[in-house]
Amino acid sequence: MGDALAGKRVLITGAGANIGAATARALAQRGARLALVDRDADRALAIAKELGNGAAPLTADVTRPEELEAAAQAALDRFGGFDGLVNNAGYGYVTPILETPPPDFAYTLAINLTAPYLLSRRIAPHMPNGSAIVNLISIYGVVAAPDRAGYCASKAGLAMLTRVQAIEWASRGIRVNGIAPGYIETDEVAALVRDGKVALDAIQRRTPMGRLGTPAEIAEGVAFLLDGRAASYLTGHILGVDGGWAAYGYV
Ligand SMILES: NC(=O)c1ccc[n+]([C@@H]2O[C@H](COP(=O)([O-])OP(=O)(O)OC[C@H]3O[C@@H](n4cnc5c(N)ncnc54)[C@H](O)[C@@H]3O)[C@@H](O)[C@H]2O)c1
Repeated sequence: MGDALAGKRVLITGAGANIGAATARALAQRGARLALVDRDADRALAIAKELGNGAAPLTADVTRPEELEAAAQAALDRFGGFDGLVNNAGYGYVTPILETPPPDFAYTLAINLTAPYLLSRRIAPHMPNGSAIVNLISIYGVVAAPDRAGYCASKAGLAMLTRVQAIEWASRGIRVNGIAPGYIETDEVAALVRDGKVALDAIQRRTPMGRLGTPAEIAEGVAFLLDGRAASYLTGHILGVDGGWAAYGYV
């Protein structure tokens, strides 16, 4: 039996780097056909070239509804519909509520919550029975952390949106699940460490497995949730891929 994702059409946002790019690689390895959306045109082009097999680069800032719509339309024109959608593009600032300009909060909601809402409702009518959506959430969509009001609130909203989509679209044959990564070796986490916003040794101590995760480890979780054979009865679930971070409740 071939891979369940072979030939499946999957659209990924924020596909140009880190977790999105690792997801694109993991799905391409399984034979999926990919639409790769990124705000950065060069990144989208580079990953599409790397993967070949008709991978389509698309440039859009997902927080701009007209750009998101244009990219969705172009992707639908090219692929005819999608068997998978990965809402991966995301952002989070790290500053206390009283020091954060409200537009930063608004932008975080726009990218982490509104964009997945808009793109999913645009693509879902073009997803056949047996399709799946995966939303990139975070441990901080499940528990709270200081200085991350926009991130925590938007990711918790995305977790709830995931469940609502799952129950509304089960009858259409679309499964909807989320991934909640812990701290992952990405440019974003490297920048937080560099800027003194998080301490690497503290994260490692706080994580039962004692290390950060890799983008490839998150990509495997996404591939599993998209796989209509392996995850056929799984919907409305938030899969923690965090080295035990969320299970830990000691000092
Ligand atoms: N990095 C982590 O440790 C971590 C942990 C938990 C959850 N997450 C979530 O996983 C997802 C991916 O995280 P990452 O660190 O790989 O992301 P990232 O910051 O590396 O960005 C990935 C890609 O998204 C693109 N992008 C950024 N803003 C965009 C926009 N407005 N429109 C379109 N494309 C845009 C970037 O150009 C980049 O190529 C996010 O939703 C993030 O919140 C990440």
